[in-house]
Amino acid sequence: MFIDVALNPAEIARLPGCDLSETTCVVFDVLRATSSMVTALAHGVEAVYPVSTIPEALALQARLPGSVLAGERHGERIDGFELGNSPFEYCSAVCGKTLVTTTTNGTVALRACEGARVVLVGALLNLGALAQELRNRNPARVLLVCAGTFEEFALEDAYAAGLLVEALGDAQLSDAAHSVKALPRLFSDPLSALQTAKNGRVLVGKGRGKEVERCAQVSFYSAVGRMESGAVRPIF
Ligand code: MLT
Repeated sequence: MFIDVALNPAEIARLPGCDLSETTCVVFDVLRATSSMVTALAHGVEAVYPVSTIPEALALQARLPGSVLAGERHGERIDGFELGNSPFEYCSAVCGKTLVTTTTNGTVALRACEGARVVLVGALLNLGALAQELRNRNPARVLLVCAGTFEEFALEDAYAAGLLVEALGDAQLSDAAHSVKALPRLFSDPLSALQTAKNGRVLVGKGRGKEVERCAQVSFYSAVGRMESGAVRPIF
């Protein structure tokens, strides 16, 4: 297994032009898109359609009767959407539902990986199950995609990617993978890493500290999601 990492949105924007046909991508947006998606998967959501823009979300929702609009801009629920992007909004009322969601970085990162052989949804919340899924699949090439925040590198995504590299054990690593693997050693625990991250500090400043604490819970859920044909569905 060879593991590489896309560290920021600029690298992610180039992915559609890359040959990912033999690559398994794992997308991390720990604060909070993939944490919310993993939570929804753990609570019985039927499918989550990530899209990049609000117009795309509105158009897709119109084609999917009964589907629910979800997502954020600048961290807040989008006007007219039923759900925002707090993981706590996905602990109930999503069972059996189909969600159409757009967020600042996480959904964009997922769609950028569409050409990959396999696309998995990663978070701290499902890290153990994710590592086991990858060990079971044993792909030759893995790309860990750190969604970032706006145009910037996001510490929390790279931290989660580093824990996954550590959990996967024996693998060939790119320089970026070696770098993220070293990150967790800088922090006493996941919560301190997330509270240090800019995105975490912004969320705490908005009174959303409990969401940061939840997103820091490692292997809290055993749900793993795979995106196929534009929809994230649970892997059983
Ligand atoms: C993102 O997609 O950039 C984040 O999930 C934004 C957020 O949830 O605040």
